[in-house]
Amino acid sequence: MRAIAVSEYGATPAPTHLPRPEPGPGEILIKMIAAGLNPVDWKIADGMLKDSAEARFPLIVGQDGAGVVEAAGEGVTRLRHGEQVYGMFRDVERGIGSYAEYALASEDGPVARMPEGMIYTQAAAVPTACATALAMVDEANLDTGQTVLVVGATGGVGQALVQLAARTGAKVIATARDDMTGTIRRLGAAETVDHSMGDLNDQVLRVHNDGIDAVLDVVSDTQGTERLAQLLRPGGAYLSTTWAVNPDAMQAQGLRGINHTGEPSADVLDRLSDLIDASELRVMVEREVPLEAAGDALADNRAGGARGKTVIRI
Ligand SMILES: NC(=O)c1ccc[n+]([C@@H]2O[C@H](COP(=O)([O-])OP(=O)(O)OC[C@H]3O[C@@H](n4cnc5c(N)ncnc54)[C@H](OP(=O)(O)O)[C@@H]3O)[C@@H](O)[C@H]2O)c1
Repeated sequence: MRAIAVSEYGATPAPTHLPRPEPGPGEILIKMIAAGLNPVDWKIADGMLKDSAEARFPLIVGQDGAGVVEAAGEGVTRLRHGEQVYGMFRDVERGIGSYAEYALASEDGPVARMPEGMIYTQAAAVPTACATALAMVDEANLDTGQTVLVVGATGGVGQALVQLAARTGAKVIATARDDMTGTIRRLGAAETVDHSMGDLNDQVLRVHNDGIDAVLDVVSDTQGTERLAQLLRPGGAYLSTTWAVNPDAMQAQGLRGINHTGEPSADVLDRLSDLIDASELRVMVEREVPLEAAGDALADNRAGGARGKTVIRI
C-alpha cells in the first residue's frame, strides 16, 4: 500500500510502499479515504516519543483519519464491514499511522461511526483537535457570565475551543490576526485580540481591568504562560496543550493549572458526532492535498500560520 513514512526519527516524511496491515483479534482494518494533519504528526516524526515508546520503522506518519471498515478481526462486534468510521489510528510501536491506504484500530479504541452526512475529508479533520478542545472546555468548568481567553484560536484546536467555550455561555476573547477576526467572531468569540499587535495582557486588561476567569492556551511557552496567568482572577483556571503550566506554582497563587493530556476514546468521538450533527460544532478545512504532498503540508504546518485544518486525500 502507499503511505507517507519516516525511515528513522528526524528523517523527512516521504512516499513509501509498505505491506497492508492485517487485523488481529479485536481489531478492524480501515481503508483510509482521508487523513487529518496535526502538529503532533511532525513532532512524532521528529522523535517526540523516542524516550517513551519503542517505534517500528518505517514509521507511518499521522493519527487522525476517516475511511471504511474493510475487514474485522476475530471477536469484533461493534463495527462492521462497510461502515464509515473516523478516529485516531496511530500505533508507533507497530509503525502504523493514518497517512496510508490502510490503517488498523482496536475495536475498543478511539474509532467511531462518522457524523451523519459528513464527508470523509471533514471527518478526518475532527478527532484530535476537537477531542482536545472538548476535554479542555470540560476541565475549565466554564460558566455563564465568566470570561475566557483562547490563545491560538485560529488553528485546529483553537477554532473548536472558541465554539465549545462560547456554547457554555462564557464570554470568549480570542487571539486572531486581522485576516481572521471575522471568522473567529462568527465561531462565537465576543472579542478578539491580535497577538501580532502588542502585548496580550495589555490588550485584555484595557477592556477587562478586573481580570478574567480562564485561559485556554495552545501556543505559549512557560514564560508566556506565567505572564498570561497574571490576567486570572483568584480561583481562575489555566489550561495548556503545550505543557507550559506549572500546576504547583499556580496552586500557590490560588489558581488551577492543568497541562492537557489527550485520552481519546470512542465515547468522546460519539460526543463530537452529536455536537456536529446538532450544528453546534463545525470544523474548517483550510486545505486538501493528495497523499504524495503530505510531506510539504507537514513542513507548512511547522512553519505556522494555520487557518483551519489541513486534510490529506488518500
Ligand atoms: N497536549 C495535547 O494533548 C495536545 C493536543 C492537541 C494539540 N496539541 C498542541 O497544541 C498546539 C496547537 O495545535 P493546533 O492543532 O491547534 O495547531 P495549528 O492548527 O497549527 O494552529 C496553531 C495556531 O496558533 C496560532 N498562533 C501561533 N503563535 C501564536 C501566538 N503567539 N499567539 C496566538 N496565536 C498564535 C497560529 O496562527 P499564526 O501563526 O498566524 O499566529 C495558528 O492559527 C500544537 O503545539 C499541538 O501539538 C497538544
